Amino acid sequence: MKKILVIGSAGQIGSELTLALRDIYGGENVIAGIRKTKPSEKLSETGPVEVVDALDMDNFVSVVKKHNVDAIINMAAILSATGEKNPMLAWDVNMNGLINVLEVAREFEMKQVLVPSSIAVFGPTTPRDNTPQETVLKPTTIYGVTKVAGELLGDYYVKRYGMDVRGLRYPGIISNETLPGGGTTDYAVAIYYEAIKNKKYTCFVNAETRLPMMYMPDCLKATIDLMQADFSKLRHHSDFNVGAMSFSVAELAESIKKHIPEFEIKYEPDYRQEIADSWPNSVDDSAARQEWGWEPEYDLDAMTKDMLEVIGDKHKKGLI
Ligand code: SER
Repeated sequence: MKKILVIGSAGQIGSELTLALRDIYGGENVIAGIRKTKPSEKLSETGPVEVVDALDMDNFVSVVKKHNVDAIINMAAILSATGEKNPMLAWDVNMNGLINVLEVAREFEMKQVLVPSSIAVFGPTTPRDNTPQETVLKPTTIYGVTKVAGELLGDYYVKRYGMDVRGLRYPGIISNETLPGGGTTDYAVAIYYEAIKNKKYTCFVNAETRLPMMYMPDCLKATIDLMQADFSKLRHHSDFNVGAMSFSVAELAESIKKHIPEFEIKYEPDYRQEIADSWPNSVDDSAARQEWGWEPEYDLDAMTKDMLEVIGDKHKKGLI
């Protein structure tokens, strides 16, 4: 790959993934695609930034031509909670945006497309523990519906056109650079910020809610390792389960209390409880381990220590 376009570069994952890819492939070779959000200084100082709206084909194609893009990573999506507030918007961005990405990639004979999926592809009838790679995919959110369709579309483009399309089912991603927006797993990020700022947090899902989660360094590693894997060795393409850790909100709060003993948590579950309850507790990621050597590094306590250090530092500097 010579020129990678990251669509959604201002988002929670996109912002850090773009910088990580620039370290590997060179700043000029990784184009940050943003839509409305102002890019961070780090993003605009380390390489090209373009306004890219995958729903606007003229704009999208002009950026692809201008930079001779030969790989696309499509991180733009409406997540689960926002999706339930506006299902048509979720369909438009997640499906029409995706088919445009795949079609542009086909037309311009791109070397690779990476399309993330999510644990949201699972639903209430899926086995909850150690959820298998191949299992029931009957989600009850519009976000999940678009992610199942996205996986199927990705695999269709592999089979039908011989294209290189890859994707992984991200669990909840926890990070300290860019806040997530509109997801059900956002509580696992907000809790750290509130612990540092106010020593208390009111959680929108209950104490027993247990979901698969992953710290950003592992998310970047999983994404880049999958991108760099030997395509001929892959049996799956757009739908790899990737696990790292799994904890309840009560366990997350306990992990924070080891560092901030006075931390207090309250629970006021809202509509997002039902979404969380429809998702797995943990996933079986043996296909990712076997096919491209996936192995996570961070567990809950290692992540908590790091999160509190980084966010604590930002707080001291008055940045949050
Ligand atoms: N983090 C996402 C969400 O909560 C799941 O992929 O919607």
